[in-house]
Amino acid sequence: MKLLHRSGKTGWHKVNKLRAALEEWIREEALVKGTLSGKKTSSEVVKVIVKLVKIKAGIKFQFEYHEKNKVVHKNLDRPEALEEIELLMQTRFKQLDLKTARADVKLFSNSADNCRVLVKKLDDREGGRVVDLSHNRQKNYILEEGIPVGYLVHLGVQTPEGKVVKSRYDKFRQINRFLEYVEDILKVLPKSDRPLRIVDFGCGKAYLTFAMYDFFTRRLGLEVSIIGLDLKADVVAFCNKTAQALGYEGLRFEVGDIRDHDEQGAVDLVVTLHACDTATDEAIVKSIGWKAAALLSVPCCQHELHDRLHNESLDPILRHGILRERMTGIVTDAYRAIVMETLGYDVQILEFIDMTHTPKNLLLRATRRGHEGDEDREWLSMADWREADAFERTFGLGKTYLRTRCESV
Ligand SMILES: C[S@@+](CC[C@H](N)C(=O)[O-])C[C@H]1O[C@@H](n2cnc3c(N)ncnc32)[C@H](O)[C@@H]1O
Repeated sequence: MKLLHRSGKTGWHKVNKLRAALEEWIREEALVKGTLSGKKTSSEVVKVIVKLVKIKAGIKFQFEYHEKNKVVHKNLDRPEALEEIELLMQTRFKQLDLKTARADVKLFSNSADNCRVLVKKLDDREGGRVVDLSHNRQKNYILEEGIPVGYLVHLGVQTPEGKVVKSRYDKFRQINRFLEYVEDILKVLPKSDRPLRIVDFGCGKAYLTFAMYDFFTRRLGLEVSIIGLDLKADVVAFCNKTAQALGYEGLRFEVGDIRDHDEQGAVDLVVTLHACDTATDEAIVKSIGWKAAALLSVPCCQHELHDRLHNESLDPILRHGILRERMTGIVTDAYRAIVMETLGYDVQILEFIDMTHTPKNLLLRATRRGHEGDEDREWLSMADWREADAFERTFGLGKTYLRTRCESV
């Protein structure tokens, strides 16, 4: 079968209607599935399905060319994928059905300039579709709609039959996404006979704490010791009662302040989701002090540096309240990453869930670099703070809470 992809720049320079619609709707972050159908000719390809896949070489558009008795695959980058779909629609298929994260879109085209687009936006309350980048579609999300999980049913996220309660769909997606990040850092967690030790700071109603317990024990068959800590006694009492009702041994909740909390022995993973302002910094300080293998933190509001940010070149940004607020978030998270990198961690800042759900959507994923043979090294006295110093000067931060606390660890 001859694939229609043109690798060279063989035309289509003029942006036609069809091309403009494809540019708008076919995007890496939003395409769930595309189906080209309605044959124009007697071609052996009856339909073509386009999905996103994440492979070693990065995110690709995977084309499945369905013939009578076989399916041929080809992975393309976005520019070539757009060219290929455009060509397929001009020569072989009348219709393209797209399922995207937020809408169903139908494109009908007879020629480059005769293109009709029908858009049906999804109901916001349904929480949108998740773009699945797994190469093998059998491997889906960690939690699946239709498969009831004890804690999700108990906490009212799922019905006993496993259906996700409409108003809790965002929570379901958030937990799923979080577990994917937990899955990603499994490789850095120690493999030993003792239970894995995890602390969830500012656990609140503890959806994630229960989710981690279920993930590690039921799904991975590991023994864990998990603590959820929160300032609120009533919330902690509710969580302990829930853990008991679910029979989750090895999971307990305590009332306390992150700053004062201490653990005897190793802590492998520290988690914080939406811990306000410097509570996230405290969690970072604890992770560093405990030499935790990993920290997963989704910061919340950031106040400390808000009024301090100063940089003349950035004045056009900083003099607008809303931009200053966003800049504060960016500077604070970048600074946290620098501090953790200075003190022995690799840090990535990733999108947790898309912006349509919450603006507090960045996740700091920190994994401790191997320190074989130098476990006892005095990091703080040997740490090279030059990058942090320069960053502090650039933004006029002065002495920060995080740095002061790190120096007292
Ligand atoms: C926005 S809620 C998030 C709850 C939960 N992690 C979630 O995302 O669903 C923040 C929680 O952190 C707790 N918290 C804030 N500062 C804290 C501190 N210094 N020590 C312990 N808990 C704290 C609050 O009581 C609150 O329950």
